[in-house]
Amino acid sequence: MYGGHAVISIGHQHPHWVKRITEQLDKIAFYSNSIRIPIQEELANKLGEVSGKPQYELFLCNSGAEANENALKLASFHTGRKKVIAFKKSFHGRTSLAVAATDNPSIVAPVNATDNIIFLPWNDAEAIRSTFAQQGNEIAAVIIEGIQGVGGINVAQNEILQLLRSMCDQYGSLLIADSVQCGYGRSGKFFSHDHSGIDADIYSMAKGMGNGFPIGGIMIAPTIPARHFMLGTTFGGNHLACAAGLAVLEVMQNENLMQHADTIGKFLMNELRAIPEIDHVRGMGLMIGFDVPEQLKDLKKNLLSTHKIFTGEAKPNVIRLLPSLALTQEDAAHFIDSLKQAIVDHP
Ligand SMILES: Cc1ncc(COP(=O)(O)O)c(C=O)c1O
Repeated sequence: MYGGHAVISIGHQHPHWVKRITEQLDKIAFYSNSIRIPIQEELANKLGEVSGKPQYELFLCNSGAEANENALKLASFHTGRKKVIAFKKSFHGRTSLAVAATDNPSIVAPVNATDNIIFLPWNDAEAIRSTFAQQGNEIAAVIIEGIQGVGGINVAQNEILQLLRSMCDQYGSLLIADSVQCGYGRSGKFFSHDHSGIDADIYSMAKGMGNGFPIGGIMIAPTIPARHFMLGTTFGGNHLACAAGLAVLEVMQNENLMQHADTIGKFLMNELRAIPEIDHVRGMGLMIGFDVPEQLKDLKKNLLSTHKIFTGEAKPNVIRLLPSLALTQEDAAHFIDSLKQAIVDHP
């Protein structure tokens, strides 16, 4: 029920994914970005189509941290500014700027520390308004997960995302939607930020994008013009990664996986909410969290040892569910039955 940390989007070893990568391997695996690579354009077009944002440009890289690093850098290039708003309990990756925008001092090395990042409380409209009123003209970007993952499955309110959109418009800052964990169909829409009806300036993505093949990217609004050599990469957008990325989008379309994630997610949430022993069930689609009370503290461990079901966690007491978007109804029901049993059997 953890999907390899939300990476397994279409299911392990999906035959179409295996076929696409194998066929590509027989042709060519890599060539440098000094030439035009048609399969990158194919992926960009397909991504535009499936995400419903065909006008966005695509820059490809290899991981979520790298995607956010490039998103933040691009926002700074574009605005000529340095400051970034991020949020309490955020996680954006472990590279220099991404980790600086991550609210976990224990993984920020002294060389990464910067006072350019302003951390605001989660879902706090007043804090957002007053920060923009004081420093709006210095803010290059706001970076926000639509649903915080590592932070414990915290859903951004629609009104907060709408407020951020309007503040960014008013002050000329860019809105970066970190969709590395909550994106790629997991929430039942392509980007979880889509539930609020806004468009971000930049979407960062990785995890589910390759179903296990390392690939990341940023989608960039057409209002941000590209400049030669502004961003670059050696491995990003290699032929094999693009083949994996295309396979994922094709399967998502052919098997209607976004709709499926929405349906199975609703089933799981309804079932979980009916279990009185667990608290605060929240999330969207197949990104779900709930709090485990102290008296059930071994629940996660027992689910694994007795029922052979691996779940995610967030400190201190959250169980985090991030299964494949192809999770079947039977498997979802089996999980619920096992969870109920593990609660009854808990010493
Ligand atoms: C929201 C979010 N952003 C960025 C990252 C970093 O991604 P990666 O580990 O691929 O660098 C993660 C990883 O957990 C994440 O959850």
